[in-house]
Amino acid sequence: MKLIFVGPPGGGKGTQARLLQARRAIPQIATGDILREAIAQDTALGRDARRSMEAGELVPDAVMIAIVEERLRRSDGHEGFVLDGFPRTVPQAEALEETLNRMQRRIDRVVDFQIREEILIRRLSGRRVCQVGGHIYHLAYQPPREAGLCDIDHSPLYQRDDDRPEAIRRRMEVYQVETLPVLDFYQARSVYAALDAEGEVEEVYDRLLAVVNRR
Ligand code: AP5
Repeated sequence: MKLIFVGPPGGGKGTQARLLQARRAIPQIATGDILREAIAQDTALGRDARRSMEAGELVPDAVMIAIVEERLRRSDGHEGFVLDGFPRTVPQAEALEETLNRMQRRIDRVVDFQIREEILIRRLSGRRVCQVGGHIYHLAYQPPREAGLCDIDHSPLYQRDDDRPEAIRRRMEVYQVETLPVLDFYQARSVYAALDAEGEVEEVYDRLLAVVNRR
């Protein structure tokens, strides 16, 4: 399965991609996670990306395209992958199509996570993330067993810098302007599928499986 998840900030893309990775062994390629790791390691990429990310702006297309091309060439993406957070501009979608054509691969499904804005804001303001493995929690909806600590690797949980209200607002605007046209791009290629991303995590997961398994 070669899948792309497109959806607004807080839509649940990361949560669902991690479930597919754990339960179906489909590797998650999450561009936001790759950038956050680069920031944590203080690499040149991380230093360049930090300001854009904190402000809720996109990192330049050329940088993102190079990162994803490199990841797709690695063997773990050979059988399948979930691209989570890429492409999020039309130039990124065009570049991905060219890369996959060269590799003689094609996308099976582009899943459009649909969810109302008031729910997104509640999800983003309560999100907490584990420092070591990026495991995702929510203070009310998916709390860790022990407050402030990851269930899996016991590292402290933190709030993302871009989950502050001003950055959330900007990310929503950027999504409307830059990323919604990506859905039109895939609708024209018949791989598009809408997903109702509201409701409990397991309910959304069941709907997701139905969408990706549909012939
Ligand atoms: P990125 O990390 O990709 O952020 P995003 O797309 O804004 O998405 P989020 O991670 O905020 O949300 P999500 O949909 O994964 O939701 P989650 O599952 O965590 O990108 C961050 C930044 O990096 C960008 O702003 C940009 O600067 C840069 N960047 C990345 N890719 C780029 C690209 N291709 N080009 C340019 N720049 C790029 O869930 C959210 C919360 O809700 C969690 O707390 C979770 O526990 C909870 N939750 C999830 N599902 C449910 C549910 N069903 N019910 C209740 N709670 C739920």
